[in-house]
Amino acid sequence: MQVRAIGIVKEFGAAAAALAGVDLDVRSGELMALLGPSGSGKTTLLRVIAGLEAPDRGRILFGDEDATTIPVRKRGVGFVFQHYALFRHMSVFENIAFGLKVRGRERPSRDEIRSRVTRLLALVQLEEYGQRRPSQLSGGQRQRIALARALAVEPRVLLLDEPFGALDARVRRDLRRSLREIHDATGQTTIFVTHDQDEALELADRVTILNGGRIEQTGTPDEVHDTPSSAFVMSFVGESTSLPVRILDGTVRFRDRVLGVPGEGGRDGPAALYLRPWDVAFTDSDTALAGTVAMVRRAAGGRRAEVKLDGPGQEVVEVGIPVGRSVARGETVRLEIRGGRIFAGRP
Ligand SMILES: Nc1ncnc2c1ncn2[C@@H]1O[C@H](COP(=O)(O)OP(=O)(O)O)[C@@H](O)[C@H]1O
Ligand SMILES: [Mg+2]
Repeated sequence: MQVRAIGIVKEFGAAAAALAGVDLDVRSGELMALLGPSGSGKTTLLRVIAGLEAPDRGRILFGDEDATTIPVRKRGVGFVFQHYALFRHMSVFENIAFGLKVRGRERPSRDEIRSRVTRLLALVQLEEYGQRRPSQLSGGQRQRIALARALAVEPRVLLLDEPFGALDARVRRDLRRSLREIHDATGQTTIFVTHDQDEALELADRVTILNGGRIEQTGTPDEVHDTPSSAFVMSFVGESTSLPVRILDGTVRFRDRVLGVPGEGGRDGPAALYLRPWDVAFTDSDTALAGTVAMVRRAAGGRRAEVKLDGPGQEVVEVGIPVGRSVARGETVRLEIRGGRIFAGRP
């Protein structure tokens, strides 16, 4: 089911709008991540899509149907929240079956409910756990059951709000992988909220980045990482440091030095050059930028050196350390800037 949000505005009292005009287009069968810092409007957008919150302006479309005023119970959405309490007094089986049993006239037969719950238990790899109580499960297992319960009613769209947020790193990684596998098996249109960029980039078909109630960019994980459309996206997704530069006649200048980075049609004047760790390299050239290694640290993708540049600004850039290169704190190094992205304004 395609889900669209068109011109959504939502304000709570006098504060800045939680959503300040949001357009989102989630394709049928897609796994879309909503990524942004705390307070950027992710939960509010998810609640508006669910029908738990009415927008002040704008529309929600499910396929071609205007769903804006359809109440939550009739909208056909499944939810999983960070703390989505299972019913403690019910077995795992009964928890998953609950949404089907309360359906009134549309309630499936006993046999149909039994076979559907059994299939869902297999899907979340907890076949043997149907008769347990939620209190007998780990946190990760409980979230799998919450997922099975959300899927039981065959929702038109599955909405997940930081579902793994309360779990430890190892369990999160496992659940991330299971969610992707379950999504691939069911083809369920899914919108997934997270503030964790690794989770979003690893899991999602596309990522929408929110900032202050507005969408900064929507794209595949590669697109938002490799061609960020704003300085915010560049710094929020992936590692980066920035330097204050000046654009003059299409060249990029740092202090008096012309860098080997294209000005990308930027206007003459001050700008910010954002660098990924591999946009900067160590060099032997005596005339290159000089600096001192302030710190060496290990990151997911290898080692990083934090280098404080000599000179008045004492700017800091982060450099990817090639395998086999030894770098010590306090060492004087020379740097070559080989790439990076220019954005208007100062860093
Ligand atoms: N029920 C509410 N009442 C008042 N303000 C709210 C309410 N819900 C959200 N907000 C405000 O709206 C903004 C966005 O919140 P939220 O959507 O929860 O962000 P996120 O999920 O990205 O952390 C925040 O400034 C938050 O304080
Ligand atoms: Mg939230």
